[in-house]
This record gives sequence, structure tokens and C-alpha cells, in this order.
Amino acid sequence: MKVMKIEGAQKLEGTIRISGAKNSSVALIPASILATGDVTICNVPEITDTDVLCEMLEYLNVDARRASESIVISTNNIENKFLPEIYSKKLRASYYFMSALLGKYKHVEMYFPGGCNIGKRPIDQTLKGFRALGATVIEENNKYRIDAEELIGAEINLDMPSVGATVNAIFASVRAKGVTTINNAAKEPEISNIAEFLNKMGAKIEGVGTSTITITGVDHLHKANVEVIPDRIEAGTYVIIGTLLGKDLKIDNVIPEHIKSLLDKLKEANAKIEVFDNYIITNKSSNLKAIDVITKGYPGFATDLQQPLTALLTNCKGISHLTETIYENRFNNVEYLNKMGANIEINERTINIKGKTKLHGEIVKATDLRAGACMVIAGLIADGKTTIEDIDHVLRGYENIIEKLSNVGAKITKEEI
Ligand code: EPU
Repeated sequence: MKVMKIEGAQKLEGTIRISGAKNSSVALIPASILATGDVTICNVPEITDTDVLCEMLEYLNVDARRASESIVISTNNIENKFLPEIYSKKLRASYYFMSALLGKYKHVEMYFPGGCNIGKRPIDQTLKGFRALGATVIEENNKYRIDAEELIGAEINLDMPSVGATVNAIFASVRAKGVTTINNAAKEPEISNIAEFLNKMGAKIEGVGTSTITITGVDHLHKANVEVIPDRIEAGTYVIIGTLLGKDLKIDNVIPEHIKSLLDKLKEANAKIEVFDNYIITNKSSNLKAIDVITKGYPGFATDLQQPLTALLTNCKGISHLTETIYENRFNNVEYLNKMGANIEINERTINIKGKTKLHGEIVKATDLRAGACMVIAGLIADGKTTIEDIDHVLRGYENIIEKLSNVGAKITKEEI
């Protein structure tokens, strides 16, 4: 098992550069197979999730060459093969291959996707989209066989603005016959990045960033390049860290608009944050006060930032209330924060955080990616030594987190035990 060891309460000074967005990259890589010819994706973070997707490409006989931060993908020899569970269970985004292969070959076979254990995470909305386009779905013991004689443009009405179902509906319809309309679509910036890539390949996707997306099917998609947008969740995580420990800590390569809901909440809590065009300067704020937060789809407060924020709320004076509306079970960090000295109660979908409490070093667990980020923040602000177990979860989503934090003065190491 890999563990992280942190000696807390160090001042952090210097610059942290934000990497390309995980949740864009994990869709852009499967999207590449919709094209004929070479595509280049720039600014792809080196994290385990992107590595696994490149392994899946290789399994499909697609050549994926990484050159520093870029991946050049050549689909010339691609084979549409059954994707074994060993791949699909590793991450949620594996099911972007389901829609991309269906969109290209009108046939795909693979298992239910994996992903962090934070709630039920069904794929009914994705399957609803496939069926609306004319596909038949056969499910047996978590294995899906999806076929269509023809994919024909249709109206897809999502029950909720699911990111994954929106992306899958785009991938499956981009080469269909006729026009597809996705109603109640998700508006996350990563979806705009994905549509930008497909449009550069020759797709006709309009309305991204609004709740109605229209896709006019095309026969052929050609080679293209795309640049992954900066990771807004990584940026938000480091802005939170800077608010707790920064001394003019610069968070560079940020699109501030993408984390406006977080910045607004931090300012409400008295955080010292200066926002510039593409960077943010943070300073330790000693008089943080309690706030109330409710997670929502973009542009609302991102569910992926609620666990990192919870570590900060233990430092706020008063009672903060944080309500999670997207997932049923995204409070696995609370047990470990309480072990470190926090005072947090779980009340169904809301947690009440009584502050300000001083945290102390402990042995804790990264139960999932963002819970792990929360424990890193808790370890950084705690007195004494914290050991975080199961940090593979964190390494799935934060590029060079140990190096980035060490470079600005944190005492943090990774060990294999
Ligand atoms: N949902 C359904 N049925 C569906 C699809 C979704 O009931 O068919 C429910 C889910 O169970 C969940 C809610 O709708 O309760 C939202 O799910 P969504 O489909 O929007 O999430 P996702 O596509 O599975 C992506 C990110 C998540 C992020 C969410 C919300 C990727 C690979 N994952 O997941 O990122 O939390 O959108 O913004 O893009 C993370 O990075 O830590 C992470 C979990």
C-alpha cells in the first residue's frame, strides 16, 4: 500500500501550476477514436486515470504516444474488441469507450464502469440516450452488449443534468443520421472542451454550456488537435490550501470563472484571495467564519470540491452547514476528520461542522479521490504527523501532488509500506 506522510502546519510560499483537467482528459482520450487519422491532445495530466485510458486504447490496437504533456493518438489500426472488466472497473470514464465505439461501429461490448465509491452511480441515463438513438441494449451480469443497425438522431431528455450521460449522448450521436437534441444537458466546462475537440474534427455540436445541446450528425470525423483546459477542481483544492497556509501563494494557470462558486464562498468566509486573469494569489486567513454550502451542477458549487472544503470549514468560527445534493454517500472523509479533532455531525445529506477546531496528526485513509484530497489538506493544517493510507485514490486525480506541495514548502512524502 502507498501512504503519504505529512508534517503539518508549514507555511506555503511560491507558485503551484495547475495541470490539465482530469475530467476533460478522460473523455478526450476515448473521443479520439471517433476520428480517422492522428489526433493530438495537449496538456494531459500524468495521472493513473489517463494512463489506464491509454492502456485501453492500446488494447484496441490504437497507437497512443505520450510526449511530455501531449498524447498523439493514431486510430489507423483500431479494432473494436470486447473490453474486459479489468479495464472498465478501474474508472468511471471507461464508459466513454462504450459511446465512442457505439458511435463509430454501432456495436460495443463492455462491463459496467468503476469509479469512486461515493454513491450508486447508475448508467440508466446513458442507456436511455443510446436507446433513443435506436440502439438495443442487452445486459447480463453487469456486461453490456449494445447494437444498432443505424443510429438515428433523436430527442434525449435527461432526468438530471448528468455529465457522463451528456458526454455519452454526444459521442453516440455525433456520427448518427440527422439531428439529436439533448435536453437538460450538463453545463460543466469540461463538456465544452470535449465539444471543441469534436467540432475541430468536423462535428456539428451547438449549444454546449446551455441546457440544450444540438448535434447534427456527420459521416466522417478527421484529425484535429486540442488543448485540455486547466483542472478547476485541482485549482480549487490548492486555493483552499492557500487560504489555510499560504504566504502570497500563487495558483497559476487557472480559469477563475470556472471556480467562481468556490471563490464566492471563500470570500464570504473572509478568505484573502486576489483574483487575476489566469492566476490567483492566496494568503492564510486567520479569521475565517462559518458558511453554508449546497452542491449543485455547474455553475453551482462543485460536488468535487465539497470534501476539500470541509477541511477548511473545521477552521471557520461558528457552525457551517454543507449539503451534498449530487451523491448519496460523499461524506467518507468525516470519520477521519473527526479522528483528527474536528467536530462534524452527519445529518442525512447535510453535515454540520462546528469550528474552529484544531486538528492533530493521525493515521487516516483516503477512501476516495476527493476524500483523499480532504485528508491531504487536513494533514497540512494539523499539528504533528499525519499518515494517509490508500493514496492511490489521490494519485488518480492530482498530478505530481507531492512535488507541487513540496516545492512550496510542505513537508510531505510518499512511501510504499
Ligand atoms: N446519475 C444517475 N443516472 C445516470 C447518470 C447519473 O442517476 O445515468 C446520477 C449519479 O448517480 C449522480 C448524479 O446523477 O448522483 C450526477 O452524476 P453525473 O453523471 O453527472 O456524474 P459522472 O459523469 O459520473 C462526473 C465526474 C465526477 C463529478 C460529476 C459531477 C468524470 C469522469 N467524473 O461524474 O468527478 O463528481 O461528474 O460533476 O467526469 C471526481 O472527479 O472526483 C468525480 C467524481
